[in-house]
Amino acid sequence: MSVAQLAAQVIERANRDVPADAALRSALKNARGLSPVDAEAVSHAVFQHYRWFGWLDAEAPIDARLDHAAELASRFERNPGSFSDDELREHALPAWTSLQVEAPPNWARSLQIQPRLWLRAHPNHGDQLPDQMEVRPGPFPGSFLYGGSEDLFVHPAFQAGHFEIQDLASQAVGLACAPLPTETWWDACAGEGGKTLHLSALMKGRGMIWASDRASWRLERLRRRTARAHCFNYRVAPWDGGEKPPTRTEFDGILVDAPCSGLGTWGRNPHARWTTTPQDVLELAEAQRRLLSHVRGSLKPGGRLVYAVCTLTRAETTEVAEWFTRTYAGEFEPVPVVNPFAPQAAPVTPLILWPSDTEGNGMFIASWRRKTAA
Ligand SMILES: C[S@@+](CC[C@H](N)C(=O)[O-])C[C@H]1O[C@@H](n2cnc3c(N)ncnc32)[C@H](O)[C@@H]1O
Repeated sequence: MSVAQLAAQVIERANRDVPADAALRSALKNARGLSPVDAEAVSHAVFQHYRWFGWLDAEAPIDARLDHAAELASRFERNPGSFSDDELREHALPAWTSLQVEAPPNWARSLQIQPRLWLRAHPNHGDQLPDQMEVRPGPFPGSFLYGGSEDLFVHPAFQAGHFEIQDLASQAVGLACAPLPTETWWDACAGEGGKTLHLSALMKGRGMIWASDRASWRLERLRRRTARAHCFNYRVAPWDGGEKPPTRTEFDGILVDAPCSGLGTWGRNPHARWTTTPQDVLELAEAQRRLLSHVRGSLKPGGRLVYAVCTLTRAETTEVAEWFTRTYAGEFEPVPVVNPFAPQAAPVTPLILWPSDTEGNGMFIASWRRKTAA
């Protein structure tokens, strides 16, 4: 099967329930004898199709759409100025986003660029990384920009637990938490452990992190990742997000890296632009409020709550943060967040990172301190 045929097969299968990246993974796994170069070409064609989907005739045959998307991408690369900000805003994003996102004019433009791949070296391994692969240092300690084209998941340095693939915006969340080695943290939506691992590294492998999620399969992956990274200062505590916390422990800090609509990742994940709905945003905002409200009793007086979402909709960002501040004003006070991309600047409440700020994903981070006397 040719690259174009395989890409078309993935696009035919992808829908709201089967994200394009999942359809792609399964197609590549089942394609016999496909070279790594061709596998990369299929992936490129599929993502390019969704990145330029807003310009394409949805009724046209898929191979014609693939060609049209390639033409648009090539014109954008050669002459980005030939696309106006208005044209990009109109076609690169679904119309409903204008009601939810007060975006800088270059947001849509930043989504049409191939996203960068960022790595975070585990403590004591950063110095060797440039000798092992094509990287150059990023803006944070231990962060690197990857410039090669290898499959990093099978790279010996990855297998040996020397680095994680972690976007800079996600690294900013760990840095905003700034946990101390003496503290006990709860990573309440730990998923597969990206932030757990970063918190552990920032705590120098000391202190303790409770890692929860409602998806046990994600926690299973977290266990495998932590083992590979030689991370031991954590314990897994499944939690369904309900009122009853997984432990009576009182925490110095709680991170709620909540499920969200993911608009901040639309550069990396263009298929989601066309499957996410305004109804999803409202339902997720409800879930985010519930999660924040349910974790808050587990903080020590003086402890810090950090809320992060990789989305940029008003309903899931400022509105959730303002609701929490208003509803729990007697118990919590907002704490300004240091912007790790501008550490000299005054901390802000909240911190909104656009993809154009991070050269990666977008992220929203808000933080509160539990008052010491009610
Ligand atoms: C943004 S992801 C977390 C990513 C993770 N922190 C990382 O850095 O790799 C959100 C996570 O919240 C989990 N989740 C969704 N609803 C939840 C709930 N009601 N209670 C607990 N976790 C929930 C999802 O399973 C998902 O793993």
